[in-house]
Amino acid sequence: MTVTVGIDKMGFYTPGMYLDMTDLAHARHDDPNKYLIGIGQSKQAVIPPTQDVVTMAANAASQFMTPEIKQSIAMVLFGTESGIDNSKATAVYLAHLLDLPQTTRAVEIKQACYGATAGLQLAADYVRVHPEAKVLVVGADIARYGLRTAGEVTQGGGAVAFLVTANPQILALDEVSSYHTEDVMDFWRPVYRTEALVDGKYSTNVYLDFFKTVWTEYQRQTSRKIADFDAFVFHIPFTKMGRKGLRQILPEATPTHQAELTAAFEASQEDNRNVGNLYTGSLYLSFLSLLRHGDLSAGKQIGFFSYGSGAEGEFFSGKIQPDYQQGYDESAISQLLTKRRRVSVAEYEEIFNQRLDTIGSDQRLPVDEESAQYYLAGRLNEQRQ
Ligand code: CAA
Repeated sequence: MTVTVGIDKMGFYTPGMYLDMTDLAHARHDDPNKYLIGIGQSKQAVIPPTQDVVTMAANAASQFMTPEIKQSIAMVLFGTESGIDNSKATAVYLAHLLDLPQTTRAVEIKQACYGATAGLQLAADYVRVHPEAKVLVVGADIARYGLRTAGEVTQGGGAVAFLVTANPQILALDEVSSYHTEDVMDFWRPVYRTEALVDGKYSTNVYLDFFKTVWTEYQRQTSRKIADFDAFVFHIPFTKMGRKGLRQILPEATPTHQAELTAAFEASQEDNRNVGNLYTGSLYLSFLSLLRHGDLSAGKQIGFFSYGSGAEGEFFSGKIQPDYQQGYDESAISQLLTKRRRVSVAEYEEIFNQRLDTIGSDQRLPVDEESAQYYLAGRLNEQRQ
């Protein structure tokens, strides 16, 4: 008998500061509507030096961690493209911070914004073979393009953590998925750079081409059509990108169904619009946004498009479970988002330029101003504290 496997719990963290996109537009002498409508972003998370991908992941995962869950975690798969070490995996730091058993296997996965999806699929296959095991999967990143670049309006950051188990509470994954890999230079970050390099317009075209390819292949494998779906969730580097993805397939739906899919998309882009790009976590923040703001019920069929520049695309699907609202902490997530402080463009620029990465010297950071449970205190003997 096949075991039902999927996402059982979800947690989300983004730091307590944001930049308003109207403020940024004024500072860059652009029309605010280019950012608000053309790009489709309202706010962007500002990441202080006291948060990195490991601390953000720990803050996200701690929303659902209990001593019982910790004991059954067999593996930690950490998707990130803005890791903190070229050798040691972020997953090892995370397992330590969360006090997971030392019998846990912990590794980092990198393929641009696709890493967490690789984690999800590997975790699902593992749980199908070991149904008693739970796997912690994380997508955490800080999206940095640089001040006054075209990509600046598409920055952001945060972490989504989720637990993959048998008989999941939130989403039962279908076993089928379609994927596509091609060596493309649309977005990359050589090891000596702290900001990404991107061929912006080209990257948006590759994204749409990959979506077309994997959606067509998924339909060929399953004989499913757009009519079989209640919502599509996209990797959202900026909300207009996901909107363009949806528009590409909407003509395949009836007018009534088009309206339903569009309403579901509006729900799924809400939180991304106010946080910005999470790279590996973006697709999963969008899914969480759909859970929080969408009109869902048990059995609704969701399609997911995951895209990681460079490039890898995957389309997969799953069904919403009856108790999905018990799988995440709604009040913690809504408080996190509503309690954020708006920073000025000058403050954002100053924070952007504060880096802990100068080689050598010990550094102590001020105590985390927002009192996150996990934060970076500084560096001693080249080790992050
Ligand atoms: N009012 C309303 N809309 C306006 C406007 C105004 N006053 N002025 C411009 N616009 C619209 C434009 O018409 C355009 O809309 P369409 O795309 O629908 O035509 C939109 O605003 C953006 O305008 P531009 O194309 O002129 O913007 P730009 O040249 O500044 O660059 C960008 C936009 C290429 C996305 C750039 O922000 C960028 O390089 N971002 C980073 C790359 C990226 O996110 N790529 C996504 C695919 S790769 C991926 O998904 C992986 C990942 O996470 C990075």
